[in-house]
Amino acid sequence: MSSLKNYSRRRFLTQSGLGLVAFAGMPGFLQAMEGMHGMPKLTPNKASPNFKPDVEFDLFCQSGSVSILSGQQTQVQQYTALLKTGPKETLTNIAGSYLGPLISLQKGQKVRINLYNKLTEPTVTHWHGLHVPANMDGHPQYTIDPGEILVYEFEVLNRAGMNIYHPHPHEATAKQVYHGLAGALFVHDDEEAKLELPAGEYEIPIVIQDRLFDEQNQLIYARNMHDRMTGFYGNRILVNGRPDFQIDVASRAYRLRILNGSTARIYKLGWDDGTPITVIGVDGGLLEQPEVKPYVMLAPGERLDVWADFSGRNEGSQLVMRSLDFSGVLPKMAGRMGGMMHANTLPVGSNYPIFTARITKKVSDSPKLPSQLSKINWHPISATANPDKPLPIGISEGPMAMLLNSRPYKFDDIQDFERIKVNTIQLMEIFHAHGGSGGHGKESAPATEEHGGMGMMGGMKHGNDDQKGSGQSMMGMGHKGGMGMMSGMKHDDDDQKSGGQGMMGMGGGMGGMGGMGMMMTMAHPIHLHGQQFQIVSRSVSADNAADYATVRDGFIESGLKDTVLVMPGEKVRIIKPFQDFKGLFMYHCHNLEHEDMGMMRDFLIE
Ligand code: C2O
Ligand code: CU
Ligand code: CU
Repeated sequence: MSSLKNYSRRRFLTQSGLGLVAFAGMPGFLQAMEGMHGMPKLTPNKASPNFKPDVEFDLFCQSGSVSILSGQQTQVQQYTALLKTGPKETLTNIAGSYLGPLISLQKGQKVRINLYNKLTEPTVTHWHGLHVPANMDGHPQYTIDPGEILVYEFEVLNRAGMNIYHPHPHEATAKQVYHGLAGALFVHDDEEAKLELPAGEYEIPIVIQDRLFDEQNQLIYARNMHDRMTGFYGNRILVNGRPDFQIDVASRAYRLRILNGSTARIYKLGWDDGTPITVIGVDGGLLEQPEVKPYVMLAPGERLDVWADFSGRNEGSQLVMRSLDFSGVLPKMAGRMGGMMHANTLPVGSNYPIFTARITKKVSDSPKLPSQLSKINWHPISATANPDKPLPIGISEGPMAMLLNSRPYKFDDIQDFERIKVNTIQLMEIFHAHGGSGGHGKESAPATEEHGGMGMMGGMKHGNDDQKGSGQSMMGMGHKGGMGMMSGMKHDDDDQKSGGQGMMGMGGGMGGMGGMGMMMTMAHPIHLHGQQFQIVSRSVSADNAADYATVRDGFIESGLKDTVLVMPGEKVRIIKPFQDFKGLFMYHCHNLEHEDMGMMRDFLIE
């Protein structure tokens, strides 16, 4: 177990010019990064005298230290809270965890939260999954400085479900979440209460995260560009902030409220004895009927409500939830590099345990799984404002930048199609744009295959009118393609295999431009702020079918979502309402390293 040794090896590799960090020295890259600052500084919102809260609490962001591994304590950042008004069940601390307290709210409650920044850096908190006004949503423009207080006031409009609260400061979300700032927020309502699902000690939150520790038990975070491009991966799985997590259960049904709170790691959850997983809810609350899956994919930001029935199991037996084998979520090249650079870590897509349920008590009585859970208000495509013209969310990834709709995040940079009329329902399509094709503003439908093949260069060559933003903002070097190694490549999708190696200077020739696309292509959990959406369809290109087969049975489309994992070569259509609130609502990759690199944009609801 020598993470330190591994780390210095990694540093050696990056300093010697191998690895994506090499690109960070390029002028174009630095230019692109510079363009990402420029968030306004606003006066923090204060309590409004007209708002009469049912629930009010203070929420502190501060540094602290906790015992995670044996030996030295670990320095963390964490949320703590103090209830001022409202039911005492509103806040529940997780003993010994760096995670923030569990927050439990009722639909219809009016809530005031006073956020105290006791860190030494700016922060802001976002209520991931909640449908709240734009100025209460924790957009990075509301970031407060150390010592400041930001007051949130909103009414809980959501149906019952599990949500997340976490920081959202410009370019520092991942780092703050990684160091411990995150917590689960539950909403309850009457529809849920009627079901009498397992509650109290029979309802267990499971927040899954991965972390990398040094030999002094301190957290190591992304140190180079490679870590950021692929997302940062730890070598230890923590559940609720604890390593080797175990729960002691009775032989009856439990409700497990699972959240992937990792910055980048994707899990394929399955019970070790092959018992299928009974899913009763996802991001946006309960499904209409339970779904039984052989395994479930869970990407960063996604939640899962699981009915875990240990009935009939013997005292002394145990069941382990594992992440099972899968492939295709990381760039092929990163996989190869990963082999060299992360020799001691826990590869994404390998098989490893997450937590253990030990049956310590035999009981004869257990609640029954309801066959009807809830009623979801589905919107047909015909109810959308744009049934023939889906709003594009084009993913482009490259060694220089992670973009959406061809642009890195920039405040107040709303493109035409990013303006949405309030109280409309929109059809949207999330797809891999492979660089330059983001200029949907001028096209009738998302252009995907038409422009496909170019990962990083995004429109340097085949870009013309509609691509100015992309080619330049990424590289800062215009259309002629001033990068030696990139020039002279052809758009040949068949050549992709060799691309991976050539670029890294590790032998093998450059493939086509397509090679770049393929090489960097990876899975992205795309998250949209505001109301929950429904998934209409998913389709994947034939090239990616083999990898896709390792994950495809783990997706759930029968519930409302706010985050969806988009696999390489995959196209996902969603229907999302934009009701009640005007203003800026973000959409971004919930691989938080990607988010901080700029894979984030705003919709302006007006
Ligand atoms: Cu969970 Cu904008 O994020
Ligand atoms: Cu969110
Ligand atoms: Cu991403």
